[in-house]
Amino acid sequence: MQHPRCDQSPAWALLQAQYQSSGAAFDLRQAFAEEGSRFERWSFEAPELFVDLSKNRIDAPTLALLLQLARDCGLESQREALFKGEPINHTEGRAVLHTALRAPAGGAPYSDEVQGSLERMLAFAESVRADAGITDVVHIGIGGSDLGPAMVVQALQPYTDAHRRLHFVSNVDGHDLAPVLQGLDARRTLFVIASKTFTTQETLANAEAAKAWFLAQGGTDIARHFVATSSNTAAAQAFGIHTSFGFWDWVGGRYSLWSVIGLPIAIAIGAAAFRELLAGAHAMDRHFAETPQERNVPVLLGLLDLWYRNFHGFTSRSVAPYHQGLRRLPAYLQQLEMESNGKGVDREGQVLPYGTSPVVWGEAGTNGQHAYFQMLHQGTDVIPVEFIAVKTPQHGAHVQGELAERLRDQHQKLLANCLAQSQALMQGKTVEQALHEKAPTASAALGRLTVARHRSFPGNRPSTTIVLEQLTPRSLGALIALYEHRVFVSGALWGINSFDQWGVELGKALCSSLLPRLASGDTQGLDGSTAGLLTKLRSGG
Ligand code: F6P
Repeated sequence: MQHPRCDQSPAWALLQAQYQSSGAAFDLRQAFAEEGSRFERWSFEAPELFVDLSKNRIDAPTLALLLQLARDCGLESQREALFKGEPINHTEGRAVLHTALRAPAGGAPYSDEVQGSLERMLAFAESVRADAGITDVVHIGIGGSDLGPAMVVQALQPYTDAHRRLHFVSNVDGHDLAPVLQGLDARRTLFVIASKTFTTQETLANAEAAKAWFLAQGGTDIARHFVATSSNTAAAQAFGIHTSFGFWDWVGGRYSLWSVIGLPIAIAIGAAAFRELLAGAHAMDRHFAETPQERNVPVLLGLLDLWYRNFHGFTSRSVAPYHQGLRRLPAYLQQLEMESNGKGVDREGQVLPYGTSPVVWGEAGTNGQHAYFQMLHQGTDVIPVEFIAVKTPQHGAHVQGELAERLRDQHQKLLANCLAQSQALMQGKTVEQALHEKAPTASAALGRLTVARHRSFPGNRPSTTIVLEQLTPRSLGALIALYEHRVFVSGALWGINSFDQWGVELGKALCSSLLPRLASGDTQGLDGSTAGLLTKLRSGG
């Protein structure tokens, strides 16, 4: 079914008018002064998390228009098509059914296959966990076959078994694999080769290198020490791997951590906790599928994304998880959002007259505060920030006594920092306020007004805060699914295919043709820069 693109909706022009009349001049400080219950009005509950949208440049008339836009674009029927397994990834002729991977038995398409595959993968994970002979698991994969598992294993560290180390290798750069192999014992190591296609250059190169290392170390039992997770199990077999966990083409790479690609997660946290991760994501699926749009958190976030990108013209969004375990979340979200929605044509191939995916970037707090937050506060661009706060820490059973007390106290510092940043971004500081402050480090030669200008902040900078009670498998599952659906919402309104990734193909093809040239030195037909650089980079060149 054809759905109108956002700019073809009557609400689009109304939103443009809304932006001109009040959106551009929207002031958060004024909004809080005028709307006493703004926090209550603009904060929402979703499974496992609480989302405060009140520090965003949004009001009731704007939201009403955005919801109208969503109706005009058939968001609900697009969502239905997703859950039903219609081939919405039309350029690859595929359904998009990551939601089926976390549905309970009988609750979604392909249920029998999904449950069978899950059981088999979890049974294998448990057998590895029970095998005292395996002390190290090296997971080799890239993109969606790396970022999700690596991020989740890191985030759920308190749930992992301290006796087994998980390593993730993704880059074709040997500086990734080499330090991981150092100190490993081939007889005690399991390699998981993860590649949906089993054709990805980086993964195959690392897998070959790992196999060669394994054999050189005297390793003999490849069948016991190498397994694959792939939708191309025939290629895995041809590679020499006999234990493979397969999955289906309707699982997109960046949506695959819920499938057998999650094997390292299951090895790290166990079958029961893996099921909790799935359950958290499923709860968010239900929220997305069933909650009225005006309280539907992924819908609200997706609408806000469109409002900021296409009307305010903000080109970037920063993610600041105030939890060290979530430090890889921004990298994970970069693939999820930018590979999904970094598109320039609509579903019919027409060039889009408006912007799509923002740049998504960030770093764990408080570290980011001491790096780029300067720019967020005083730079010339407005960059909405997304704070993620976790109320209760889990420092681990080994943390006891005075250390436990100290770390609990540090957690209060962490939370205070998180609150302070969103407060500062919104409040700002006027030149007038700065004039009344002492500036101990300023040179005496500078006028007071000059110093005050340097020390003032524009404020009115928007942010969202997501609060989790605790970072558990369940809450993390819900958080990830929230982001998946939010990306779906903005992509659906932009009228794009969020599920293909043709943009990575050209570079891959050119790489294949440049690789032999690096050996031969042949620069014929290359542009001057590429030819010059190739010559410079050749060994002996
Ligand atoms: O970067 C392109 C891409 O196809 C991603 O979408 C995917 O997650 C990644 O490469 C890895 O692909 P595969 O799992 O097939 O090795």
